[in-house]
Amino acid sequence: QFRNGSTAVAVDGMPSFAFAFDIDGVLLRSSAPLPGASTALEYLHNNSIPFILLTNGGGKHESTRVAELSKKLGVPLTEENFVQSHTPFKQLVEGSETVESLKDKTILVTGGDGEKCRKVAEMYGFTNVVTPTDIMMAYPSIWPFSLAVDFTAVQGHRPLPTNVDHMNPSKSLKIDAIFVFNDPRDWALDLQIILDLLLSKGGVLGTVSEKNGDPSLPNNGWQQDGQPKLFFSNPDLFWATSHHMPRLGQGGFQASLRGIWDETTGGAVLERTVIGKPYPETYKYAERVLNKHRAQMLGGNGEVKKKVSRLERVFMVGDNPESDIRGANEFESPHGTEWTSVLVKTGVYHDGRHPKYAPKVIVNDVLEAVKWALREEG
Ligand code: G3P
Ligand code: MG
Repeated sequence: QFRNGSTAVAVDGMPSFAFAFDIDGVLLRSSAPLPGASTALEYLHNNSIPFILLTNGGGKHESTRVAELSKKLGVPLTEENFVQSHTPFKQLVEGSETVESLKDKTILVTGGDGEKCRKVAEMYGFTNVVTPTDIMMAYPSIWPFSLAVDFTAVQGHRPLPTNVDHMNPSKSLKIDAIFVFNDPRDWALDLQIILDLLLSKGGVLGTVSEKNGDPSLPNNGWQQDGQPKLFFSNPDLFWATSHHMPRLGQGGFQASLRGIWDETTGGAVLERTVIGKPYPETYKYAERVLNKHRAQMLGGNGEVKKKVSRLERVFMVGDNPESDIRGANEFESPHGTEWTSVLVKTGVYHDGRHPKYAPKVIVNDVLEAVKWALREEG
């Protein structure tokens, strides 16, 4: 299956290169493994060639997903070589010198099925998590057409930490940050609640800031009154599923919110933080995870027993030119590691199209991608 002969190994036996694999459209389509995916990962695992999975997907805790993926793909994966779209949100629990801790703040978490994303946020360490379904069940008039009521058994919900009483704002529900952890299921309900919060006085649900539209203020007064910070976990407009055509992703939801915000404010800027591929911060985070994983592979029990040779090259294998390929092409590693983009034809990218972001090479599938890279490394 693979070209024999040694790969370019460094003095410590650790290859000087590694792989980063996208999931949807490269290893899986919806939940079905793609041809060659297991063979490719098994080869790398059996030959101690380091790799990580770097996905804009999410919706479950990393421990749950790696257990599922290990079974599906037939290779032992751990949280040490796995980065999901919302994984970096963990850093906001404790915060840093420049970023406030959101650990005990009241945060709205949307996306994913039912309670799953709330559970992920709580496993990260957030202690006060509210979901749109909680709000809808406590305050049904907030959105007259929501489907959540009919699916409460599926969606799940909890009582709100404080009631919503816009006549008594000091005692009403105040949201400090809004997180879109994964693709929202009830876009209309989530768009309505997020818009309400972005127009609110200080994040108090049910209130409206008098500053909105004030031309004497920055951004004409929009988002100038302590409204909650808004975080998206990825910008994917489309992604590859079992359907033969790419489906709208979280980037579609974000574009809908931007459209509504534009209509509501007459073109004000929508202040927001978006992470995930293709953004350099995500690749920097992924490279850190990959370097730590390489050291653990060498160290065996997770301690770095001896100096690990420098990681010189990462082959980023993806299906989406707008995220996987663009991200690898534009990332400038702080350690001088070269990221080489490899585009496969098994996902969003369709053969014959001219990708807006040109990869180093286009191959049929993930197995061909690994073979090409091994030949490159000689
Ligand atoms: O929600 C998943 C989608 O946005 C793309 O995931 O694995 O192709 O980065 P992935
Ligand atoms: Mg993909």
